[in-house]
Amino acid sequence: MPKNIAIFASGTGSNAKKIIEYLNQNARITVSLIVSNNPSAKVLGMAKGKGIPTLLVTRKKLYENEDILKIFNEYSIDYVVLAGFLWLVPMCLVKAYENRMVNIHPALLPKFGGKGMYGMNVHKAVKEAGEKESGMTIHYVNEQYDDGSIVFQKSCTLTDDDTPQSIADKVLSLEHRYFPIIINKLVSIS
Ligand code: GRF
Repeated sequence: MPKNIAIFASGTGSNAKKIIEYLNQNARITVSLIVSNNPSAKVLGMAKGKGIPTLLVTRKKLYENEDILKIFNEYSIDYVVLAGFLWLVPMCLVKAYENRMVNIHPALLPKFGGKGMYGMNVHKAVKEAGEKESGMTIHYVNEQYDDGSIVFQKSCTLTDDDTPQSIADKVLSLEHRYFPIIINKLVSIS
């Protein structure tokens, strides 16, 4: 039986796209559901174009009851990936997918994480702090932002010439390169 992944994404979905394309080579793992809270997120159009079911959630739908868990059970979801999802994941999912749910963060945690640390906020803070390196972190998800144990990190060197945008570009290219590979490994051994 192939393992089924759900990806939460609410932005461009460039990581989700890379993961889907990478996993196309692995018949044992299928991206079976894309969950988003943003009706105009690009990721939804991309998923539809690839024939992957999508689920649009509201805060009410996510936190008021445990329907999301029922939906995940209907899709037989084995593993959950957060790739650009800014809301906290409901407790019912955190518990049900303990050690089977990872997030990607665009900095070297534990630095530059926590509430409000997303997108360009992260890269501006890295620049302002005069960091000599940044990078990406993949970590397990718990009930707090960017707090679960770290699974994998990859760093890139920064120079004085780097801007928040160039830092963002460097980090995103690391994400695209390593996130699909790590997901493939984690899901395979889960
Ligand atoms: C990535 O930088 C990731 O680290 C963060 O959100 C961004 C998502 O980018 N959690 P994309 O939508 O995959 O392009």
